[in-house]
Amino acid sequence: MCGIVGYTGSNPALSRVIEGLRRLEYRGYDSAGVALALTKGEKLVVEKKAGKLANLEGALNGGHENATGGIGHTRWATHGGPTDINAHPHLDESGKLAVIHNGIIENYEELKAELERRGHKFKSETDTESVAHLLGEEFKASGDLATAMRSVCARLRGSFTLLAIQSDNPNLIVGARRNSPLVVGVGSGENFLASDVSAFISHTKKALELGQDQVVVVTPNEVVVTDLAGKTVTPKEYEITWDAKAAERGGFEHFMLKEIYEQPKAVADTLLGRFPTPSTIELKELENISGNFQRILILACGTAYHAGLIGKYALEEWAKIPVEVELASEFRYRNPVISEQTLVITISQSGETMDTLMALRHAKSLGAQTLSICNTMGSTIPRESDSVLYTHAGPEIAVASTKALLTQVIALDLLALYLASKRSSITSNRTKEIIDALLQLPNKIEEILETVEPLRAMTRGYKNATSVLFLGRHVGFPAALEGALKLKELAYMHAEGFAGGELKHGPIALIEEGTPVIAILPPAKSEIAEKMRSNVQEVRARGARVIAIADQSHSLDLPELIRIPESEEILQPILSIVPLQVFAYEMAVARGNDVDQPRNLAKSVTVE
Ligand code: F6R
Repeated sequence: MCGIVGYTGSNPALSRVIEGLRRLEYRGYDSAGVALALTKGEKLVVEKKAGKLANLEGALNGGHENATGGIGHTRWATHGGPTDINAHPHLDESGKLAVIHNGIIENYEELKAELERRGHKFKSETDTESVAHLLGEEFKASGDLATAMRSVCARLRGSFTLLAIQSDNPNLIVGARRNSPLVVGVGSGENFLASDVSAFISHTKKALELGQDQVVVVTPNEVVVTDLAGKTVTPKEYEITWDAKAAERGGFEHFMLKEIYEQPKAVADTLLGRFPTPSTIELKELENISGNFQRILILACGTAYHAGLIGKYALEEWAKIPVEVELASEFRYRNPVISEQTLVITISQSGETMDTLMALRHAKSLGAQTLSICNTMGSTIPRESDSVLYTHAGPEIAVASTKALLTQVIALDLLALYLASKRSSITSNRTKEIIDALLQLPNKIEEILETVEPLRAMTRGYKNATSVLFLGRHVGFPAALEGALKLKELAYMHAEGFAGGELKHGPIALIEEGTPVIAILPPAKSEIAEKMRSNVQEVRARGARVIAIADQSHSLDLPELIRIPESEEILQPILSIVPLQVFAYEMAVARGNDVDQPRNLAKSVTVE
């Protein structure tokens, strides 16, 4: 949802800014632009181009190496189409001040009308340009960019990360944030501002977290943070624990494929250090949560919502706590019954998803205890939660979420097991069995990935299908939803996930001769195994081409069968989802789509 970078220091700003934008392009790729400050008083160099970053690089043609301060933006369009004119940065009336923005200024029409009445001329259709003009006016009045930024922020409604640069002070960048991410990278003789740490990870591992409604002034050797009243605040400093290599493709054709192959490690890392003995579990992070909650409400979006749906089974079966799972975007706009006895769990890879953040705030305002499951340290959702359980998936760059999902499910399984042992709702023998099963998962995922080639070949045979259906029961149902979501977002094909038992209540009418149906079978000993096998026969009898995902406990005579290792039924999605990810990946490649940057999407959705 727009990537933002700022740089000030003694090195060439343009290459630092472009490098940052390259790493942030996953956030949006409708256009890219930079504003560079050269020497004091000289005009800002502003270049911006619709389309991907490569178009901007072509237009810049390697020039402007002497600029030592600059800001850059990669856009996911909200207000105004993806054109050169609507691309950021936007200039104020004087042309001396440039602004980039992530988020939505909700009162921009009102501000624009006011500014036009005072003679301002607008060039773009964006909400951001109003901020640039207003900032220009305030700067003229105070002569200080930080003071001007604070006054402007006080007038804005909505969500924003803003960066501004001014031609009279080329080494100074001023930033501000409300409800959108902004981190500071502290280097030696150089400093960075960015939407996330990947933008500057190859230059520094020291980062500062900015809070809500804070303004930051950055020069090569100093970072000063204030609130909107101008009072100095001390930002929280932290060390980034992964390195630049983790955010690069490392020989894989796409980030998504690399991230699929990183799943054994991501799952192992998320399990690491949780089991002090073979039959006990420790989650120190939960110490802030009082144990007296009666129910759990999980809130999340997209793939993270599917993780919640899967986690519900373990929480209810092991810990015997009632669990509801709701889309964060729906939760905020109703009057749910919440009390201190409700534990609200938000799940988010990025920690910045606006729908989830707003749902978290709504839940807090209603008195809930809050826990977040998150992959991004220092992001807003964990910062605003009472407790956080970090997943350890490492940076996820591809827009389609893969390793984050598996680790989110693992985090929920750990939580379920922890609560079960706290409440003595399962025996210590059973706890040990589950721990054993969890610890075997990384090797089992590895096994699937080692034998994935035939699936890739098979997938290509379906590339002209118009619709693909996914079927599952029990935990296989949310796995089916996830399979369908991955296929929609990557292959741009119609896909739907159904609960096997629900088929006969309508969806079976969609089956025609040759319709591909991917069926996820539970282990043969499951009480729903027979029922799922019947569902497979029902769709085959109506002409569907069934691709079954099943473990060795089934003897099945199906032409297209993908084997996964055996596991506990509740843990099976950790395995069955892996071939579904590969299916969607391969289909996108076969159809010539951009796998890492699918159309119309962005990695971090920071608008509602
Ligand atoms: C799908 C996908 C999205 C995200 C959703 C939530 O592959 O990536 O559906 O899962 O936008 O994002 P986070 O987890 O960052 O809150």
